[in-house]
Amino acid sequence: MKIVVKKDYQELSREAAEIVKKRIQAKPDIVLGLPTGSTPLGLYKELARAYKKEELDFSQVSSFNLDEYFGLEASHPQSYHFYMEKNFFSLVNIRKENVFIPDGKTSDLENHCQCYEEKIKERGGIDLQILGIGRNGHIGFNEPGSSFNSRTRLVRLAQETIEDNSRFFKSLADVPTRAITMGLATIMESKDCLLLASGQARSERISRALKGPVSPDFPGSILQKHRNLTVILDKEAASFL
Ligand code: F6R
Repeated sequence: MKIVVKKDYQELSREAAEIVKKRIQAKPDIVLGLPTGSTPLGLYKELARAYKKEELDFSQVSSFNLDEYFGLEASHPQSYHFYMEKNFFSLVNIRKENVFIPDGKTSDLENHCQCYEEKIKERGGIDLQILGIGRNGHIGFNEPGSSFNSRTRLVRLAQETIEDNSRFFKSLADVPTRAITMGLATIMESKDCLLLASGQARSERISRALKGPVSPDFPGSILQKHRNLTVILDKEAASFL
């Protein structure tokens, strides 16, 4: 495990973007695993800036998002489809046919989840999985209790996740209670993994994930067993380590 500590969120985002940039330059048809949430916004901004400056070409890049709310249309402003389009995909030249996000409105759940796993395999597996981490240690929407063998599937969101994510919705009652997420086994199969965390509020979860017992009670702790994990933190997020 490699831990990099940067001064602040901006520096963290720049460092993460530098890593992603080098990886795309080395392998133009790289397969990325992508998160949503507050943490990667700076990274997406930096990558879009690099594209604009013609330092990066996404035309051969494929991406698989970690998760999507169950029941939300892609056009819903709080869906992760919408988030990705707004904050990243519309700003770079990634091809629609190379972008994969679980469909929150699928009518054939089992088949959809299985196909998601198959598509990842068809593209040669995820080269670089980027992650944030939730208050309860979730990665993707693998909430506490998720099996280390889990694959893409429908999950029920933990109460603390619903509360935390209500900041993006009009009210707590509007937050979907279920989601489709890649599993912990799916995430662990990625060749490289980049975990990002910023701010004091994320310091305790980072210390539990990286130094606590490896247990489904705190799903992010499984990353201690990843073959190639890089963690980029700002000073505040590293303060419990
Ligand atoms: C998002 C995801 C989640 C977030 C986590 C942290 O696609 O899978 O695991 O990474 O909830 O979210 P932020 O970055 O908003 O603190």
